[in-house]
Amino acid sequence: MDIFDNLTIIVSGSHLEMLNTLLTIAQFLFTVFTGIMLGSLMLSTSFKRQSFKKSNESNYQSRMSLEMMDLITSSPTTWFGFGLVPFLAIIVIYIQLTAGAGTTAPGVLLFGFLFYSFGLLLAYFYKNSNRFIEFYDFVKSNADMPKEDYRTSSAEQYNNQMTSIKSNTGFWAVFMMIFGLWAFVTGTHIASDPTLWSDATIVSFFTLAVFYKMVSLLAASFAVAAATFLYLKFHWDGGFDFKDEGYKAWAKNKSATIAASCVSVYIIFYGLSLSVIPEASNSAYVYGGAALAIVFAFIATNLFYTIIKTKKSSYIRFAFPLVIAMFLFMVCSNQNAFEVSNTDNVARIAGEHKVKMASLYSEVEVVEIDGEEIYKIRCAACHKFDEKQVMAPSYKDVLPKYDSDTQALIDYILNPSAVDTENYPSGMANPALKGPEAKAVAEYLQEEMKKYN
Ligand code: HEC
Repeated sequence: MDIFDNLTIIVSGSHLEMLNTLLTIAQFLFTVFTGIMLGSLMLSTSFKRQSFKKSNESNYQSRMSLEMMDLITSSPTTWFGFGLVPFLAIIVIYIQLTAGAGTTAPGVLLFGFLFYSFGLLLAYFYKNSNRFIEFYDFVKSNADMPKEDYRTSSAEQYNNQMTSIKSNTGFWAVFMMIFGLWAFVTGTHIASDPTLWSDATIVSFFTLAVFYKMVSLLAASFAVAAATFLYLKFHWDGGFDFKDEGYKAWAKNKSATIAASCVSVYIIFYGLSLSVIPEASNSAYVYGGAALAIVFAFIATNLFYTIIKTKKSSYIRFAFPLVIAMFLFMVCSNQNAFEVSNTDNVARIAGEHKVKMASLYSEVEVVEIDGEEIYKIRCAACHKFDEKQVMAPSYKDVLPKYDSDTQALIDYILNPSAVDTENYPSGMANPALKGPEAKAVAEYLQEEMKKYN
């Protein structure tokens, strides 16, 4: 895209390499965060829905819905640091790395970013409205609120507002974020397949490769959200005080079941996505990274099943890092696919940089440094060649000892040391010449001296 090309600078090959590394890091942060965020959002809304059915699990379900939503949304700074900032960084780096390639990938990513940030905003409303309603119901059921008090009526009003916000925001937040993520997957997929660079973009949204990747990413999101829930509630800091053993057992079983089944779905769809890897991004690292991701996912599933069977939550301390590692290697594999397919373009940008640098240097005129000129301006006031002055000795007297060693003469000029302390007690002041100037004047002096021998 032309607008984006104006944003890029011609950088050297080593800088481009560094950008690839930064891209990997940004994508890792982004996908793990988004996975937990979106997964917990989807789980929270679906538990909420289930709780409306008023089964005997309703209480547990609505509690789980709230706790899911609280996983990582406690501070909006997290959203910036792990969601929006890495996403923006990814876009900027893609713009730079694909400069001049004529791919729509950065545009698609930017499109996704808009939806994604809107989804985050809605998620924020969803969470806070739910929290407030929960709190309001609690207060109402436990205390008599004086009817005539204005605070009672304004709290009621606020509660009604929150209820109307709540009813749909959860759904829309999920929708927006999934759509944003879909564009993200499509954008990165386009970037890693040069045959799509000049193709119609909309079509790419509906390719099989994007479908497989999207399903596997959603499954991974559910899995990592459930795993984070288990990790934070049952392991972190000695575990959470549930106060209700019934709920505790239910929540443990529920989240482990979700994690186990979703990692399994992930393995299937991620495996399928490998069968449609574009030819241009074929490399041993792509498959190696993917294989590791699958191996880690496989071990993690087994651990989650073990948690379900044995009811022992302690396995989560291995299962959780494995799920994170699964994300890491998936990202590395994807990133490598992009790097391989973008090699030519990076080489072209680096080549342009070299040419640019070379022409810059040739534009600078190399000025000859004139030794005689320097002597006249900087030395002649004190030194003459054939006669001694009050100010300084004649060159005829002092230069011969440097005849065989020009470097020693240069060193002296650059940094004069005391020689004849009797006649010149304060020595020679440092003329403060630059290296090449001292060399030029030294050579001039020695050349000129020959005339006086
Ligand atoms: C302000 C006066 C002054 C100026 C200007 C000056 N010199 Fe000297 N120069 C001296 C004096 C005084 C000595 C003797 C110092 C001593 O013997 O310690 C000296 C000594 C020297 C010596 C002899 C060193 C030795 O080993 O005996 C050289 C060579 C020399 N100057 C080169 C230069 C050059 C080249 C410049 C110009 C870039 C320069 N000087 C500018 C005052 C000056």
